[in-house]
Amino acid sequence: MCGIIGYAGKAGAEKFLLQGLKKLEYRGYDSAGIAVLDEDEMQVVKCQGTLDELENRLRQKSLRGYLGIGHTRWATHGVPSDDNSHPHQDCQGRFALVHNGIIENYQSLKAELQAAGHSFCSETDTEVLVHLLEEVHQGDMIAALRELQEKLAGSYALAVVDNREPEKIYALRQASPLVIGLGEQENYLASDMPALLNATRKFHILEDGELAVLKEDEISIFSAAGEEIEADIFQADWDAEMVKKQGYEHFMLKEIYEQPTVVRRLLAAYLDRDQVKLPEVAEIWGDEIDRVLITACGTAYYSGLVGRHILEELANLPVEVEISSELRYKKNFLDENSLTLVMSQSGETADTLAALKLARSRGSRVLALTNTIGSSIAREADAVVDLKAGPEIAVASTKAYSAMLTALYLTGLKLGELRATLPERELLTYRRELLKLPEKITAALNRVEDSCREAADYLKNHSSMFFIGRNLDYSLALEGALKLKEISYLHAEAYPAGELKHGTLALVEEGVPVIAIFTRRGLVSKTLSNVKEVKARGGRVIAIATAGTIEDKEEFDQFIELPACNELWAGVLTVLPLQLLAYHTAHNLNCSIDKPRNLAKSVTVE
Ligand code: M6R
Repeated sequence: MCGIIGYAGKAGAEKFLLQGLKKLEYRGYDSAGIAVLDEDEMQVVKCQGTLDELENRLRQKSLRGYLGIGHTRWATHGVPSDDNSHPHQDCQGRFALVHNGIIENYQSLKAELQAAGHSFCSETDTEVLVHLLEEVHQGDMIAALRELQEKLAGSYALAVVDNREPEKIYALRQASPLVIGLGEQENYLASDMPALLNATRKFHILEDGELAVLKEDEISIFSAAGEEIEADIFQADWDAEMVKKQGYEHFMLKEIYEQPTVVRRLLAAYLDRDQVKLPEVAEIWGDEIDRVLITACGTAYYSGLVGRHILEELANLPVEVEISSELRYKKNFLDENSLTLVMSQSGETADTLAALKLARSRGSRVLALTNTIGSSIAREADAVVDLKAGPEIAVASTKAYSAMLTALYLTGLKLGELRATLPERELLTYRRELLKLPEKITAALNRVEDSCREAADYLKNHSSMFFIGRNLDYSLALEGALKLKEISYLHAEAYPAGELKHGTLALVEEGVPVIAIFTRRGLVSKTLSNVKEVKARGGRVIAIATAGTIEDKEEFDQFIELPACNELWAGVLTVLPLQLLAYHTAHNLNCSIDKPRNLAKSVTVE
């Protein structure tokens, strides 16, 4: 949600900032801007629209200078417009500031600042920050930023430059991500690591309350308590190649096709024929734990719904799944006897982070499954399983979902082992089957690609459609519908197959597409009855099924068959045609696949 970039070095800042913003564009893309200092001259260019628009403007007026900050916006307060774009400036034009997060008390601060004579040009909460800075700055930026911290409520990652200190970028983090990258005679700042991988793999991740000062040849970090501290530098194991499209038309397609590699990597790290390794799960486990709560948002939440079935079946434990943004409004039974699994690709989702903190405050142990080691969620959890999916750039999550499912399969087996709910022979069979999953995923992708294109040709002409399934297949249907809505802007709803007849069937008429999922043999006859009900009303039914599940294919208008697979692990195969259906439908409709309207990759506001 909004991307921040900063550069202090010897090369042209404008070029670096633009390149960095391109890498951050998936965090927000409704407006963008940069501020570059040429000695004491503050130059700001910003506008509504994508980065192409900003680049156009800069072609007319290129900026000289070796230090600057930039921002790509996902609007929260105020519509996307030139005025609401960042960087924002104070009344004198001395400071330029970019911000990611939400200032919750901005209205009262704004009223005070207006009363003191400050004039505002935007509707944003961010502009308050820069006027407040102007108000409290007495010649010492660090002291001024500390004063800001005391007055602000909400979340912020911010970067600010001052034309009286043109060799420095100041940065401050509170509940929104910000990383510092270290280079040779240049240093960088960004909302996340992938934005800087072209330049460095050495990072310091700012903690909440930390303040940083960047110069081309030096960085200084100050703790929340105000003391100067050593940077905690680590080497990322991601590289620049991972954040390129590598010949694919879209990042989403590349990430769909990366899934065999991702699952293979995870299995190689956490599983061999003799055991599930996952020491993280063993460490956090205690015999007193008698229930599990899984909490997450969006696609991660849907993977959690599949996870519930897996954990309950393998570990024989009661599992609840809750959307993170809802957890705090419900009575929960979290305590020291519960284990909370927090799932998040980015590790920065504000709702999920809040749920994690709630769980911890109730005494529950927290295991995070995340793709971003070093993220807020990873750092707040008691133990972390690294999803090892590599940077996911497309806003629509695909490979992270498969990584989450695989990690949940492994967690289920590990808990089964720890709780002795599974005989060794069964465990061995499960482990062997899991090791075959990467090949099956590759085979499935090859097998379904053409039929998904064919189905997408049909879906593109329909403004509304349904995804149905029972039990685990319903959890998968939810992910299929989300993927389609998110990138093709067509209306899709998922239903437990048996539930259609309780109301929604009224919407099924001639030609309405219904995608029916079948991975559980024992449930086929019941779901088939629901398919017949749809057919009797003229609906067009596309089946997605694992081989051997359904004998009679006559009933369906199209049949998309996946390789045979143990029912427990079928989710990781079934999601592939669901992702490809969404991708090809959106492609047919010329939608902005990697950056769908109104959305952003990392949702760091509640
Ligand atoms: O980074 P997270 O996994 O915590 O993100 C959660 C959701 O925002 C995310 O899965 C979202 O629903 C995706 N855009 C779906 O494709």
